[in-house]
Amino acid sequence: MNDILIKKTTAFFQDKFGNAPEKVVLSPGRINIIGEHIDYNDGYVLPAAIDKIICFAFAKNNTNTSKVVALDLNEEFEIDVTAEVKLDEVDWTNYIRGVINQLKINGFKFEGVNCVFSSNIPVGSGLSSSAALECGFLFGLNDIFNLNIKPIDIALLGQKSEHWVGIKCGIMDQFSSVMGLEDKVIRIDCKSLEYEYHTADFNDYSLILFDSNVKHSLMTSAYNERRQQCEEGIAIAKANFPEIKSFRDCTEQTIIDLKDKMSHDVFRRSLFVVKEINRVIQACEALDNGNIELLGELMFATHDGLSKDYEVSCEELDLLVDLAKKETAVIGSRLMGGGFGGCTINLVKKGQEQQIKDKFSKLYREAFDIELKIYDVKIGNGTSLYK
Ligand code: GLA
Repeated sequence: MNDILIKKTTAFFQDKFGNAPEKVVLSPGRINIIGEHIDYNDGYVLPAAIDKIICFAFAKNNTNTSKVVALDLNEEFEIDVTAEVKLDEVDWTNYIRGVINQLKINGFKFEGVNCVFSSNIPVGSGLSSSAALECGFLFGLNDIFNLNIKPIDIALLGQKSEHWVGIKCGIMDQFSSVMGLEDKVIRIDCKSLEYEYHTADFNDYSLILFDSNVKHSLMTSAYNERRQQCEEGIAIAKANFPEIKSFRDCTEQTIIDLKDKMSHDVFRRSLFVVKEINRVIQACEALDNGNIELLGELMFATHDGLSKDYEVSCEELDLLVDLAKKETAVIGSRLMGGGFGGCTINLVKKGQEQQIKDKFSKLYREAFDIELKIYDVKIGNGTSLYK
């Protein structure tokens, strides 16, 4: 599948610009096994890069203007890389503009490129196509202009680009897009940015994504509001317990003791964060020990918290998780990523995948008259140079 994408992208580049690309970069989307909405709360997360990618073809054009073509959208734009960078109403261009802006404000020297990109990462499904776009574009410029930016700093600059566009995201998406390794999940300590690879062996279970095929528009504002509520929660904890520096130093009891000092929402968000941090630690151990059933239970518990306490689910995602709970062949399921639509991630007994897929598609269509999209997950490598 990726071979076709690479051929299509490079052939288009050749036709459009009259020369072959100098560099071809592949940048993946990501899944997350567990650890949601805690990357910006000093927590741990357990994501992995996937084999769905954006392919970029690049060449220097020896001018100060970059020309970037989004092949799938049949759209393109030009940007003078020496001028002040501003947000535009064409959404996808802002991720590229954001990257150029970050490089400029951090003093990197670079010129214009011609670039064509094309993707097989579903957009708006919670698979981080925007992180793949930022990190792949950054990776290409880094290589072409010898900017010497380390992989982790590519992730951090990608995250800052996303902030500039408007979502005050954590580091999980960009980190996993850049640092992913085939067949491994990454346990990231989002406080120190230390990380470890763990083998992605789910024994008798397959990882399957059910894409609700809905995207509720509140995402950006609701995401930033959750972040702000958590900041309020941890500020109250710090003010009351001087030994507390972050949510990592809190127990559930710490938050419960502060219930009267917090608004109802801040209390529920904070309690979710502390519980989710502990779930990731347990989940990673369960994975290492081959206790996939326990991992599945923790995933269900995460969904419960995301839905009821963090309030980032929606009726479509809740239904998909409820369906999963009723099936003995599905031992874990939860919404994945920021929420308000996108995918659930599911652990489905090997051999029963097709039957579950058929059943869920039918029931989902009956409930919402929407087609359920389904992706089998393969864990792949992080952003890399193809040529
Ligand atoms: C989005 C953000 C991430 C993370 C998830 C929720 O994907 O970009 O940083 O916060 O939501 O876990």
